[in-house]
Amino acid sequence: MSKKIIAPSLLASDFANLQREIEMVNQSDADWFHLDVMDGVFVPNISFGMPVIQAIAQHAKKPLDTHLMIVDPDKYIKTFADLGVDHLTVHYEACPHLHRTLQAIKAEGMKAGVAINPHTSVKLLEDTIQDIDIVIVMSVNPGFGGQSFIGNTYQKVADLKELINRKNANTLIEIDGGVNADNAKKLIDHGADVLVAGSFVFKSANPTETIKKLKEEIA
Ligand code: DX5
Ligand code: ZN
Repeated sequence: MSKKIIAPSLLASDFANLQREIEMVNQSDADWFHLDVMDGVFVPNISFGMPVIQAIAQHAKKPLDTHLMIVDPDKYIKTFADLGVDHLTVHYEACPHLHRTLQAIKAEGMKAGVAINPHTSVKLLEDTIQDIDIVIVMSVNPGFGGQSFIGNTYQKVADLKELINRKNANTLIEIDGGVNADNAKKLIDHGADVLVAGSFVFKSANPTETIKKLKEEIA
């Protein structure tokens, strides 16, 4: 069984003390940084963009897993690569030429991810799964941290795992939204490889300890 990954989402961190929050993740058992970029068009919220990611990249010592909730992501692929982003995930619903977008991300040396909204079926990835390094299954409607986990996600993860196996693909399954100690293990048991956790980590009394416990939970 391959190693399971925890990716704290900085969206829920204290932006006034971002360097301190980054150092906490550096020192913790977490594996990746999850960075949520929102444009106020694809989703009804605006988070942060390039200058903030540039600052994060200067301090982060773990891979930058960047989740673009933006329209027309193709325009910025090179910019994110130049900032030092390791994984670039675009939304299925925002990409009319998804295959081309995936190739463009890989051509810049990054891992290519596709995120699917709660209403988007994993069946729609039949013809691209072999080109996708990471699928983010959204377990909330994207746009905000701190929302409740959607239970239908378990079945989607199982269906996606079946598709990946059937197509002999090498794709990681990442779950994003409302992840906590109550659903982490069950998600892994259904086939998930990566769990994003925002509020559950950063709003807890001891984020380092919360990450450690989450890792132990899914080990
Ligand atoms: C939601 C973002 C998530 C969010 C997760 O649109 O993509 O990454 O930060 O936050 P929690 O874990 O609080 O649901
Ligand atoms: Zn995200």
